[in-house]
Amino acid sequence: MIALTVNGRAHRLDADPEMPLLWALRDLLDLTGTKYGCGIAACGACTVHIDGVATRACVTPLSAAAGRAVVTIEGLDPDGRHPVQRAWVELQVPQCGYCQSGQIMQAAALLREHPKPTDAEIDAAMAGNLCRCATYERIRAAIHRAAELA
Ligand code: FES
Ligand code: FES
Repeated sequence: MIALTVNGRAHRLDADPEMPLLWALRDLLDLTGTKYGCGIAACGACTVHIDGVATRACVTPLSAAAGRAVVTIEGLDPDGRHPVQRAWVELQVPQCGYCQSGQIMQAAALLREHPKPTDAEIDAAMAGNLCRCATYERIRAAIHRAAELA
């Protein structure tokens, strides 16, 4: 049994400790907002927070999340009113949307560390989050807007 907290709820999962956290979230806990893109920590689609740190769930074994607090896009804000989410809506950031939960989780972690990030800090923090629809300009603008809203 692996004990972990996801979005504030305690869980005990009867699963292989080597199972990627991403599969546990999606297949065992039905939290499908976190997406699979590459499986090798190269795209950022699977980004969640573990103890507040942006983490690639596809390469994180369940055992590494044991006893820790995981937050997914579903738990970022109970009402979907996190400043990053509000800015994303206001600036209509997504195109297809597939990468966006990972982008939002990465951006939220950035703003926790840098409440008023520069363009360079945004580019550095977001470099590992790919968007096939190339929404990068809107992402950057929305992070600045989220910093204003926070
Ligand atoms: S699916 Fe995890 S980084 Fe691409
Ligand atoms: S919005 Fe389509 S991949 Fe990013």
